[in-house]
Amino acid sequence: MTQHRPPLIRSRALALAGALGLAVLTGCAAAKKSDGEVNIYSGRHYNTDKELYKQFTAETGIKVNLLEGKDDELIVRLKSEGENSPADVLVLVDAARIQRARQEELFQPISSEALNRDVPANLRDPAGSWYALTRRARPIMVNPALVAPSSLNSYADLAKPELKGKLCLRNRASVYNQSLVADILQQQGAAATRSWLEGLVANVKPPFFTSDTPMLRAVGRGECGVTVANQYYLARMLSSEAKPGDKALAQKIKVVFPSPTHVNITAAGVTRHASNPEAATRLIEFLASPSSGKGYAAANNEYPLKGFGENPILNGFGNFQPSPVSADQLASGNREASALMVETGWK
Ligand SMILES: [Fe+2]
Repeated sequence: MTQHRPPLIRSRALALAGALGLAVLTGCAAAKKSDGEVNIYSGRHYNTDKELYKQFTAETGIKVNLLEGKDDELIVRLKSEGENSPADVLVLVDAARIQRARQEELFQPISSEALNRDVPANLRDPAGSWYALTRRARPIMVNPALVAPSSLNSYADLAKPELKGKLCLRNRASVYNQSLVADILQQQGAAATRSWLEGLVANVKPPFFTSDTPMLRAVGRGECGVTVANQYYLARMLSSEAKPGDKALAQKIKVVFPSPTHVNITAAGVTRHASNPEAATRLIEFLASPSSGKGYAAANNEYPLKGFGENPILNGFGNFQPSPVSADQLASGNREASALMVETGWK
């Protein structure tokens, strides 16, 4: 079904794009479209994604218009566009964010045999509003000159008093850390999580970082002995795309996968007001399928939905036991986890 929208909508959407600093990269996501088109709002920013969208078009004849933006800004944008939104698919990073979009009623549930087959049950919304496309891990990263990797087997070990002044952390505004704490909370309960957080905060060498990469550089330089970071940041520092000097710093860092390791997702859903939900579902099925899922994960040195993939840098880090906590549970524990972080002094 095609909905014809007045030209007003287009200019309003583009004005919003300007106000929010969003880039319209391929085609015009805000233009009215035919049944043979699908508009995707994505929090991802990789050229290889565009190659996959082209491949989808080649296979299905459905054109993909891409609008990239920051995750939280895309949620605000979709909300403000309401039923006039031109978006059919929303792609966001982190379970907590995708669940926030669901709570804002930005998705419509879909049912798809292909998605139920390709996306494990713990990596999708039980009601079918969103589906994971890739997985990312948040392991411990150590500078062995300062901290013995063999002394660390679990996230609990980061609270040991002997790490005082050696632990660097990203700030609590990071949804990645909120989800990590939600994971521990789900596994161990509030009392144990609180005392773990107190130990962690007591060990922190300030300042709290605002992103993972500078924190990893500090570990590489020996300013910090240990941290937790998403694996793709270290992989990027080790890759050919690395900034000068980063590779040498990254090579000083050892990845320690705690047992179990916290895993998060990139996920997608069909928007509530999608004018082309069938095409949108087909695009998500395509991205979640084992063959194109490989490429989607590879773009950001992430893991596919099943197994560990073939990325040589990631394989060099070793494999891990993923946490049993589902993406849905990570999201629903976010509020309590964030409150505990505030109470225990995580800056
Ligand atoms: Fe990230």
